[in-house]
Amino acid sequence: MKPQILLISSFVSIVTANWAKNINYRSPSEHHPALGISIHKVVKRNNFQSPWDPAKLNFTHGIASGDPYPNSVILWTRVGPSSDNDKSNVTVSNYAPMYNHDTEEYVSVSQAPICVEYKVALDKNLGHVVDSGKIYTSSDIDYTVKVEAINLKPFTTYYYQFSVCSSNNKSPLGRTKTAPHADDDVTKVGLAVYSCSNYPFGFFNAYGNPVRKDSVDYVIHLGDYIYEYKNGDYGWGQSIGRIPLPDRTILTLYDYRKRLATYRTDLDLLASHQQFPWIPVWDDHEVADNTYRDGESHLNNTEDSFVTEGGMAVEQRKMNAVRAYFEWMPIRQVEMDDNLRIWRSFSIGKLFDLIMLDTRQYDRSITDLYWNTDYVHIISQDAGRTLMGSRQENWFYNQLTHSAKRGATWRIIGSQIVFSRINESLALGNQNPLNYDSWDGYQANRNRTLSHLYNNNIGNNVFLAGDSHASWVSDLVWLGEKSYNKETGEGSIGVEFAGSAVTSPCPYGANISLATANNYSTWLQTANDELQWQDLYYRGYYELHISPKELTANYFGLPTVVSRNGWEIPIANFTVKAGGNRLQRPVAGGVVESGSLKGGKVVESNRTVDTGNGTWFVSNANLAVL
Ligand SMILES: *[C@@H]1O[C@H](CO)[C@@H](O)[C@H](O)[C@H]1NC(C)=O
Ligand SMILES: *[C@@H]1O[C@H](CO)[C@@H](O)[C@H](O)[C@H]1NC(C)=O
Ligand SMILES: *[C@@H]1O[C@H](CO)[C@@H](O)[C@H](O)[C@H]1NC(C)=O
Ligand SMILES: *[C@@H]1O[C@H](CO)[C@@H](O)[C@H](O)[C@H]1NC(C)=O
Ligand SMILES: *[C@@H]1O[C@H](CO)[C@@H](O)[C@H](O)[C@H]1NC(C)=O
Ligand SMILES: *[C@@H]1O[C@H](CO)[C@@H](O)[C@H](O)[C@H]1NC(C)=O
Ligand SMILES: *[C@@H]1O[C@H](CO)[C@@H](O)[C@H](O)[C@H]1NC(C)=O
Ligand SMILES: *[C@@H]1O[C@H](CO)[C@@H](O)[C@H](O)[C@H]1NC(C)=O
Ligand SMILES: *[C@@H]1O[C@H](CO)[C@@H](O)[C@H](O)[C@H]1NC(C)=O
Ligand SMILES: *[C@@H]1O[C@H](CO)[C@@H](O)[C@H](O)[C@H]1NC(C)=O
Repeated sequence: MKPQILLISSFVSIVTANWAKNINYRSPSEHHPALGISIHKVVKRNNFQSPWDPAKLNFTHGIASGDPYPNSVILWTRVGPSSDNDKSNVTVSNYAPMYNHDTEEYVSVSQAPICVEYKVALDKNLGHVVDSGKIYTSSDIDYTVKVEAINLKPFTTYYYQFSVCSSNNKSPLGRTKTAPHADDDVTKVGLAVYSCSNYPFGFFNAYGNPVRKDSVDYVIHLGDYIYEYKNGDYGWGQSIGRIPLPDRTILTLYDYRKRLATYRTDLDLLASHQQFPWIPVWDDHEVADNTYRDGESHLNNTEDSFVTEGGMAVEQRKMNAVRAYFEWMPIRQVEMDDNLRIWRSFSIGKLFDLIMLDTRQYDRSITDLYWNTDYVHIISQDAGRTLMGSRQENWFYNQLTHSAKRGATWRIIGSQIVFSRINESLALGNQNPLNYDSWDGYQANRNRTLSHLYNNNIGNNVFLAGDSHASWVSDLVWLGEKSYNKETGEGSIGVEFAGSAVTSPCPYGANISLATANNYSTWLQTANDELQWQDLYYRGYYELHISPKELTANYFGLPTVVSRNGWEIPIANFTVKAGGNRLQRPVAGGVVESGSLKGGKVVESNRTVDTGNGTWFVSNANLAVL
């Protein structure tokens, strides 16, 4: 049946609103027609009998939800004639010819829009529907569907489903949850925190475990959701049957879409998106390694860039990555006219504000690109260097102030890179002992942040970080400025929880042994006063359970990711009391299962594991080789 279109001109705005409901038609550049998609022209393509047979369309990559507000949430799916991605490579230069302005006809049948309906309900049977609607998608946006479900109630669980219009062809059923209202008293919120999921390095078991336990409300992803490499350049996908497509370094819009689509076939990732609303931000690899405002580690942004990476200018590549990311991730673009802006915040009742930063793509000064480490070391103290750009940085400080003023108990800051100073001279040598690609390379920016917190008496700060493929738990301190007692934690103004990777390998050696990893951890823990626990061995994630009186962080280590399994070890638990502004002593209760704990012990417990052919009693080290 032909989808209904009103052609009377006075109704055009209503029609447009209906089309514009698929946010991906407006994103990522609503007011820059040359960068965007003309909905007007897509609408015209619908002025024909729909060529689509609903039975031959597929919901190819599951469903997802994200960016919960008290009254709305973003819903996502993809429905198309094939699981392959659209090859149009929409860019400034090559999008326009796809539409014939003279005849006002669409170029091919494959460009005709597809009509999709969605329903949001309080129950799994979708009996008590609270929001529903009809929207369109098309090849222009890779057949993705992104819609804001509205009229919802705060902190409430909802179920949702998409279907092809006038058919019985339905997507899987999704579950989601709105945020509490900013003024609500909330007693408990759980978050699962992730980073660095690299498809050819392993199965995304970490995403599936909170689904199996049903242990959290929302998922936070601090970035490196995908990696841009060709498998052979970084990854052992061959040995585990996980080659990310396309099998090359990704550059074009098609490439980024295809890579996201490959990742979105992992069953545990699909399950997490189906059950939890996500709040993600990108790190560097959503575009390329060690990106900054003007480049990345493989591109010097010289004319040679065109030679070294297939004739693609660095800003075109970034736009491709950004467009595909907004198409595929269930998130809001809070400023439709700023296509690089992903930094945004969420008020979760009176309990906490979640401030998600972009310390990578938006506006950061040059970083360590491997050939310039000495130089970045020298300039790492320059006052003019910024991780975020002045616009984002001012916003960040205002958010911290506003959060404290409104009386939110906690401020949770989603950074990509590790905030605390980490002396790694054991591995890096004494000449350049810090990681200049993290906050350590932008010390004035870090000092400005700490100064804002101390000078305005803003406490209960919890920094989150990913990126490093290892776990680092620290008191949040301003070394050299404020006195700090590493035994009691006195002088600290909060804590930092940096988490390990979903699959990306240990930075001190892929396939490192537990003994060697813990040896390095001991050195790191000893060399850094504020670093209370460190672990290099385990891939994994952590859960934050937040209440008005205290916050706990539970770290889970995955014994192995070269097979799909649900095994995990609770390797360390931390408590922070409201008003404490430091890790509660004894840190981690004095005992962890791996890594190195300041003033505490590492005790491995033995456990039983069902391997599928019987129950086995194993130690942590043996679990890894099962
Ligand atoms: C849709 O999915 C079904 C089941 O996976 C498959 O059999 C069918 O070939 C797919 N159709 C298309 C057009 O890709
Ligand atoms: C889009 O990019 C893909 C992958 O690089 C390429 O194969 C295809 O020819 C491109 N399509 C257009 C229309 O440029
Ligand atoms: C980038 O420039 C530096 C300094 O000129 C050079 O050492 C390095 O090899 C260049 N890298 C690439 C990928 O061209
Ligand atoms: C890092 O630690 C090593 C060994 O303790 C020490 O010699 C060096 O001075 C430290 N470097 C910095 C920048 O703190
Ligand atoms: C940061 O603060 C520390 C401690 O006061 C100081 O030693 C350092 O010089 C400051 N660095 C910059 C770049 O402001
Ligand atoms: C590490 O383990 C992976 C997966 O088992 C394997 O493919 C790879 O060859 C190993 N690498 C080394 C250096 O041993
Ligand atoms: C641990 O480190 C010490 C020196 O710091 C070294 O002698 C020892 O061999 C290391 N052990 C392992 C298992 O790496
Ligand atoms: C962490 O907490 C969990 C759940 O309470 C518990 O099962 C586990 O033993 C704890 N782990 C450690 C290392 O204390
Ligand atoms: C775990 O089992 C090993 C081997 O059976 C044993 O040596 C070790 O003491 C056990 N550890 C604990 C904490 O029970
Ligand atoms: C059962 O599983 C264990 C652990 O994966 C393996 O070592 C053993 O060989 C398996 N036994 C059989 C009979 O498959």
